[in-house]
This record gives sequence, structure tokens and C-alpha cells, in this order.
Amino acid sequence: MNYNKKSIEDIEVAGKRVLCRCDFNVPTKDGKITSDKRIVAALPTIKYLVEHDAKVILCSHMGKPKGEWKPELSLKVVADRISELLGKEVIMASDVAGEDSKAKAAALKNGDVMLLENTRYIKGETKNDPELSKALADLADIFVNDAFGTAHRAHSSTAGVADYLPAVSGYLVQKEVSIMGKALAAPERPFVAILGGAKVSDKLNVINNLLEKVDTLIIGGGMAYTFLAAQGYTVGKSLVDNEKLDYCKEMLAKAEAKGVKLLLPVDTAIAPSFPSPIDAEIPVEYVDCTAIPADQMGLDIGPKACAEFAAAAKAAKTVVWNGPMGVFENPTLAKGTIAVAQALADSDAVTIVGGGDSAAACEQLGFANAITHISTGGGASLEFLEGLELPGIACLQDK
Ligand code: 3PG
Repeated sequence: MNYNKKSIEDIEVAGKRVLCRCDFNVPTKDGKITSDKRIVAALPTIKYLVEHDAKVILCSHMGKPKGEWKPELSLKVVADRISELLGKEVIMASDVAGEDSKAKAAALKNGDVMLLENTRYIKGETKNDPELSKALADLADIFVNDAFGTAHRAHSSTAGVADYLPAVSGYLVQKEVSIMGKALAAPERPFVAILGGAKVSDKLNVINNLLEKVDTLIIGGGMAYTFLAAQGYTVGKSLVDNEKLDYCKEMLAKAEAKGVKLLLPVDTAIAPSFPSPIDAEIPVEYVDCTAIPADQMGLDIGPKACAEFAAAAKAAKTVVWNGPMGVFENPTLAKGTIAVAQALADSDAVTIVGGGDSAAACEQLGFANAITHISTGGGASLEFLEGLELPGIACLQDK
């Protein structure tokens, strides 16, 4: 895929109505935003457009209202937060590309900012309905995509609208694509990828693609037990995806054939059962992965694995990490994930955290500033690491 896309700096925006797709799908609790990271990440583009006299029409989805007008998923709360951060009024439209949006968009003055309602209030959005794409395009003269977190979706507001307007990237999309694109295309070596998460099946193509690129692939988290089982170890009651044993054998053979070091945890935290509730206090023991008793399950990597993974991250020049090392929602079983986050924070390498749970872990632990780049995309960064073409980026004009 060609990542060399035109950006907001390559197009004249002064006096133009610019439809800017952001990913304002932020977590909320009791009507309040609990992390405004994605809003803050969109500010450089919004500020550039304001300062360059564009008439800014922001849009985004929030949650999955599936065409229903769910008030708890209104973007009004986001408009208020952008307004606070920008120090200027953000005009809230009461619809998506309906009469109110049209009237408010037509009345915008240079430097004004408005926000449309949740694009997923309209059924056609997730179907990439040309009628909705056209209605969105009719509001504006230029389309800017800055929603990296939603770039893997071919929806009306992320891709379809680009059929009708000149389409360029915003600064966030540009930054995500250039940092992660460089890591994959021309990484400084040694290049180490650390993958975790519960299921092998969620990361099949990521593992396959990264084996083409890295010097060392580290696999932790729940999916490590399927790899260990594929190597012939007995892993007790640990999570094993039996249907993926052959795939794991194939990947182990591929790593060997390519000279890629594939590291699995040498030891693990074990307990007789999964904690319930997930954050319940549970007693754990640490054993080597070659000696997991039949009545126990592995729930986190052990201290030897932590040390080995941290040493690999320290010796690397580029590290990409996606997925927790254990049941990190539980304080006792979060040690592996914390150790990896700490190792990345301590490393002099270019460190990239691919969104989702691992990004949340770095932020909660206060390590965010010590990481080179934490992606705002969960699914999007995973698809990027898979080497897939992201529709929200593919639709933008090439340089
Ligand atoms: C995300 O949170 O990963 C993006 O906003 C995309 O949301 P979606 O998975 O509901 O499409």
C-alpha cells in the first residue's frame, strides 16, 4: 500500500468548507469522557484548519448505535471538550448531514468549527451507503481524514465521501502512518515485536506478516499456551486454541526457516482457575512452562520470561508491542504486562505500542511519555501490522 498521501498542507483550505473525519470514539462513564486522548490527538489538525481560515466541519462515530438515535452516544459531550481545549465555540449540529447540518455548514465563517452528530446514527454509515457519502460531501469542498482509529473501516464518513471530494490526510493519520510504516518498511535493527492477547486467532495474519520483518518475535499472553502446546508441552488447563495448533507449528517452522528468533515464555503464573470476578485476589504460583500441572492454568508470564523479554526490548533498536502478557485486569496477573511496558519505557529503541489494551496499560502506568508512539488505533493498528490496506487511507490522494 502507498502511504505517501497528500496532507492538509498540500491543499488550499482558506475559505473552504473542510469535512474532517476524526475518531472521537472516546470512552465515557455517566455522560463524562474518561479519556480524551483521541480528542487531544486530533487537535493539531483542527488547529491548523482554524488557523488557516478553513470552515471546519468535524465528524465522527461513537460506539455502535447501529442506526438508532441513542442519546447516550451523542457527540455533544465531545463538542464541549473540543471547545474547552480550543478555547473557542464548537457549533453542534443536531443531525448528521440533514437540514440542521446543511444550514449550519452554509453559515460557517472562516475559522469556525462545527461538529456533526454521531455518524452511526445513520444506518447507511457502516454500509458505506453512497447516498450518505454524497450528503456528507455536499456539506463541504474538501475531505480530510484524521481518524486513524477508524481507518480500517470502509464507511461513508471514512472512505465513501472521498469519492466525491478531494481527499487528504490530517496530521494524526500522517503521524501514525509514517511512524508505523517506517517501522515495518525500514526498521532500525534489531527489530523486536512483542505480541500478546488471549487468542491466536485474533493475530494470525499479524504473526505471519511480522515474521517477514522482525529479527525477534516474542509471544506472550494467552496465545502463548497454544504455541507451547504446538511444541508438544502439556499446558494443563491453560487456554489452548486446538484448531490453531497446526498454524502455530507452521509459524514456528517459518521463524526457524527465516532465522527469526521466536521467544515464548519460559515460566508462567499459574492458578487452578480463571479469576472471577476478573480482578478478584487469587493466590498464584510460578512454574516453568515445561511443568504446568494438569489441574492448573497459565494466566501471566513469569519472572524469568519478564527478564528475558525486557532484555530483548533493551537490546533492540525498534520495538513494536501489541497485546497484554496476562490477565492484566487483575493486579496479581498484571506483572508481565507491567514488566513489558516498563521495558519499553526504559529502552532507547524506537518504541511503538499498537493501541488497545497495551496502550491503555502504558497510559495507566504513567509510561506514555517514555514511549515513542502510542497508536490511537486498536483494530486499525492491528490491521496495519498485518500489512492490510486501510480503506480510510487508501482513499486519500497520492502525493
Ligand atoms: C476503535 O475504537 O477501535 C475505533 O473507533 C473503531 O471503532 P469500531 O470498532 O466500533 O469500528
